[in-house]
Amino acid sequence: MIIDKPFEFIEDQSSPNRNIYPLTSEIDEKGRLTVGGCLLSDLAERYGTPLYVLDEFTFRSSCKAYKNALSKNYKGLSLPLYASKANSSLVISSIVKSEGFGLDVVSEGELITALNAGVQSQNIFFHGNNKSKRELLIAYQNKVNIVIDNEYDIDQLDNLIPTEGHKAKLMLRFTPGIECHTHEYIRTGHLDSKFGFDPDKLEDTLIRLKNYQWAHLTGLHAHIGSQIFELAPHRDLSSVLADALKKAIEIGHPINDINVGGGLGIKYISSDNPPSINDWVKTIALGMEKACKSRDLDLPRLLCEPGRSIVATSGITLYKIGSRKEIPGLRTYISVDGGMSDNPRPITYDSAYTACVVDNFLGDEKELVTVAGKHCESGDVLLKDYLLPKASSGNVLGIFCTGAYNLSMSSNYNRIPKPATVLVGNGQADLIQKRELPEDLLRYDILPDRFIDHR
Ligand code: LLP
Repeated sequence: MIIDKPFEFIEDQSSPNRNIYPLTSEIDEKGRLTVGGCLLSDLAERYGTPLYVLDEFTFRSSCKAYKNALSKNYKGLSLPLYASKANSSLVISSIVKSEGFGLDVVSEGELITALNAGVQSQNIFFHGNNKSKRELLIAYQNKVNIVIDNEYDIDQLDNLIPTEGHKAKLMLRFTPGIECHTHEYIRTGHLDSKFGFDPDKLEDTLIRLKNYQWAHLTGLHAHIGSQIFELAPHRDLSSVLADALKKAIEIGHPINDINVGGGLGIKYISSDNPPSINDWVKTIALGMEKACKSRDLDLPRLLCEPGRSIVATSGITLYKIGSRKEIPGLRTYISVDGGMSDNPRPITYDSAYTACVVDNFLGDEKELVTVAGKHCESGDVLLKDYLLPKASSGNVLGIFCTGAYNLSMSSNYNRIPKPATVLVGNGQADLIQKRELPEDLLRYDILPDRFIDHR
C-alpha cells in the first residue's frame, strides 16, 4: 500500500522539467521509493547496479507537454524533434516517434538508431560541424534532412551527389549571435562557436546554394545553448531567425521550416527554477508570429529540438554503496559502484544533482557525506558535501535527473562496463539495454601473434 505520495516534491505535473523527481514517484509504507510502480531497491537487486532507470510516464509527459504547447500557442504548423544526443536507443526513438516527434541526429550511430526504430526519414535531421563523407552519403541516400553547418558540408555534398540523383533536403544552420547564461562548454549561440555559419556569411551562402541543382533548401536553424533558464534569448532568436527567413525568401529559397534548436533547462537541485515547457514554447511561438507579422512573412512550420527537457527527469541512476572513509574534522566519503564513467557531468561541468537512499527516502537521521565514484581519479565525485539519510554498505543510492547526457556521454574509463537501462511503467520493468560485461570490453582488442607466448 502506498501511504505517502511525495506531492510536495512533484511541483509541476504539467512540465516534468520543473521537477527533480519522476512524476510517478511514490513512497511506500516502509519509506521506500517506487517509480513507475516499481520498487527501486528491487530493480537494483534484479538487474544489478549501477542501473539506469527510465520512467516511461515522465518521458511521455514531456513529449506531450511540447506537442500540446505547440498546438496551443502556435498558429502555424509545427514539428518537435527530439535531440537524440541526450540519450539514444531503439526504445527511446520509438517512444518519441509514437508521441509525434521527429529526431535530430549527429552521427551515423544516432541515425541508424532512429531509422531502425522506424522513424520516417523526412522527420530526421542530420546535424554536425564535421560530418564525414560517409555520414553525408548515408544521410543523403536515406533522404533525411541534412543540416548544413559549413562550407565543407556543401563542398562534400557537391562531390558526392550524382548529377542524376534526387535533390538533397537541406536546412542551414547559422550562429545567431545571442549570448545566454549557461556553462561555456554548452553555449553555442554566441559568435565564437564552432557550430554554424557566421551571420555575416549567411547571405553569400544562401546565394551560393542557389547554384546547385541538387540543393533544396527547406529551412533555417539556430540553437543558442543548453540548460538555459532565461526566456529572453529565445525571444530574441525569433527576430534573428525571421530576418534570416526574409533574406532567404528574397534570394529565392521558398523556405518553409524554422528550427529554433533546444536548450530549455531542467531542475537538477531545489534552487533551480527553469521555465515550464509551455512558457518556453509560448515565448518562441508568439515571438515568431510577431516577428513574421512585422516582416510580412507567412508563418513557417516551427521546429524545435529539445533533448534534456524531454528525457532527463525520467531518469534515475541506482548505485550500491560500498566503502566509507571518514577523515575526522574534514569529510566523510562514501563510495558507490559507478561514477564518472556512467555520469561524467559532475567532473566535466561541476554539475550538481539530487540524491536519496532509495529504501529510506525520508530518513530523518541525516549526515553530511561526499559521494565518490570508484574510478582512479580524485575528481570522480558525484555529490560534494551532501546531506543524505544515514546509509551503510549495501544500501542503494539513487541519483535523480540522469536521463539526459549520462548514458550518451558515458565511457569505459578504467575498463568499467556500461550499466544496463530498464524502462518502468505501471509496475512493470523492461530491460531496454543490456549491461556491458568486462569481456565485452575485450571484443575489439587484438593481440598480434608475436605477443603470444607459444612455448
Ligand atoms: N540542438 C542542437 C543543435 C544541439 O546542439 C543541442 C544540444 C540540442 C538541440 C539539445 O539541447 P537540449 O535541449 O538538450 O539542451 N553535454 C551537455 C549538453 C550538451 C548539449 C549539446 N547540444 C550537458 O551534459 O549538459
